[in-house]
Amino acid sequence: MIENRKVRTGYCEEVGTKTIGESVTVAGWVHRRRDHGGVIFVDLRDTSGLLQLVFNPEDKELFQQAEKIRNEFVISVSGLVRDRPEGTINSEMPTGAIEILVNDMSVLNASLTPPFHHDENANEDTRLKYRYLDLRRSEMADKLKIRHNIVRSLRNFLDQKKFIEIETPILTKATPEGARDYLVPSRTHKGEFFALPQSPQLFKQLIMMSGFDKYYQVARCFRDEDLRADRQPEFTQLDIEMSFVNQEEVREIMEAMVKNLFEEVLDHQFDHDFEKISYQDAMHRYGSDRPHMGIDLELQDVSDLMKSVEFKVFSGPANESNSRVACLKLESATGITRKQIDGYTAFVGEFGAKGLAYIKVQNISQGLEGLQSPILKFLDESTINSLLQRLNPQDGDIIFFGADKSNIVNASLGALRVKLAEDFNLIKEGWFPVWVVDFPMFHWDSRDKRWMSEHHPFTSPINSSHDALIENPGDALSRGYDLVLNGSEIGGGSIRIHSQAMQQAVFKVLGIDPEEANEKFGFFLEALKYGCPPHGGIAFGVDRIVMLMTGSTSIREVIAFPKTQTASCLLTDAPSQAGKGQLKELGISTKAIK
Ligand code: AMO
Ligand code: AMP
Repeated sequence: MIENRKVRTGYCEEVGTKTIGESVTVAGWVHRRRDHGGVIFVDLRDTSGLLQLVFNPEDKELFQQAEKIRNEFVISVSGLVRDRPEGTINSEMPTGAIEILVNDMSVLNASLTPPFHHDENANEDTRLKYRYLDLRRSEMADKLKIRHNIVRSLRNFLDQKKFIEIETPILTKATPEGARDYLVPSRTHKGEFFALPQSPQLFKQLIMMSGFDKYYQVARCFRDEDLRADRQPEFTQLDIEMSFVNQEEVREIMEAMVKNLFEEVLDHQFDHDFEKISYQDAMHRYGSDRPHMGIDLELQDVSDLMKSVEFKVFSGPANESNSRVACLKLESATGITRKQIDGYTAFVGEFGAKGLAYIKVQNISQGLEGLQSPILKFLDESTINSLLQRLNPQDGDIIFFGADKSNIVNASLGALRVKLAEDFNLIKEGWFPVWVVDFPMFHWDSRDKRWMSEHHPFTSPINSSHDALIENPGDALSRGYDLVLNGSEIGGGSIRIHSQAMQQAVFKVLGIDPEEANEKFGFFLEALKYGCPPHGGIAFGVDRIVMLMTGSTSIREVIAFPKTQTASCLLTDAPSQAGKGQLKELGISTKAIK
């Protein structure tokens, strides 16, 4: 039968546009089969959508065949398009007004009963093991189609602006983005390893040195780091670099690209320039360098009021230079319970906070009597009055306090700000992009006792001489910038160092001696000597952008074949042991080290 006719003449949803009485052939999967007292209905699914098939008992042979088909069987059917009887029209379905009266069917393939069906909420491990079945769900397929639209929009924009796409190596040398490398052993150079790129950073800078003016690449990056909902060991960057540009020019063109993306894919217009905030301001007001700007809550500093209070928990940090006392005023929290407050105290504890002092404002007109708080007894009346004057709380508000080293207060109250906004429905609908600029060049790693780059070691400082940089690394600001969207860092970049002397000064601060610098980046330092143009760029996290634009909660939802939280692939069982012969060829023997 099948040999004599086409497997299909069109897609399921196209049939909706056909005229009644026309003959069609469609093919796809049995989405659902229903026996309705002598008539069998099948929802047939293909990439375009669903179509209802009807099998009448008059054609005995065909009907018996239809009785045997099960969910996810692959079939091809021919039949006549007809109106559905009145009362059975499904207005939710694009093809809901019609059906196909089947007169011929071929079963192209059978299927085992799938471990989960389309409407079920299967657990994520099962979905990842049978990812090909998971991707049959329209929700997942739609996300991958939107991902395609997003990448196409970005590519088209860059192409129009005369950027060219250049591929860079995957088998390469360690690249310094701060995570652990994935290593690949070399067979031809026994005992030696390639590293997979954490980003194409050095290659894109070399491309600028090669005279290409504007580069981009949809680039796969590999980082062996602790995973979270927005981090995968293997992820995709839209990587960009430009020569002879300053910071404003890079941000301007990138902002235009992001605006164009939202307009093309989501029909969303940004009618204003993206906000811009300094790193210091972001930390001070939001406790985070990736602030969600759709939340009105802000941290307020009250260190100046707490300098001479009796309560050591507050006066200590209030008098130290790298510490602070800050608070968050949550409005209209009348119903907040003791249990909830205990929950928030445990929550900030995860960020190192030693407690979460609070003042509940029950009746402001009663003065101190109208407040409820475990810390009132430690504060004098005039301090409390100054505090109330500054924060101007109303009845029902609650004020939370953090007092500690600034990094602990910022991390804990910054996270509490977002948590309260989620719990009390304070996150505004919409898109809230913000550029974060003026990052410090370095931060002090107190565990390893050394300076670390805030971005990466190729980031240029703002107006700093080599000597000043080496003398006071903590004071230097960088020409780095991040683009943050709704609390998620979607891109980061910088104007780069293009002089060899400055590059060496940065290595010196980072404790990389000339020998090590030479061994790791000798090729790059050499290239800087041959007329390197000033240049800068950025890389966007494509998976994160797709996650936000599809309203997903994890980047695993927008990657066709992602890894688990422990960096393994449940579908293929990778990573797995290598065969003895293979290891021998590589000159490797394995012995587990505890
Ligand atoms: P950075 O390390 O900030 O910069 O990375 C750029 C963007 O990539 C995304 N991203 C990730 N997405 C998913 N999983 C991960 N593990 C992951 N790590 C990063 C983020 C981030 O903003 N070479 C520089 C860019 C430059 O300076 O031009 C770099 O890689 O959205
Ligand atoms: P204590 O005197 O330790 O019982 O603390 C009194 C109140 O201060 C409690 O509500 C604690 O949660 C809170 N608290 C303790 N340490 C801190 C801190 N570092 N920052 C903010 N609140 C704190």
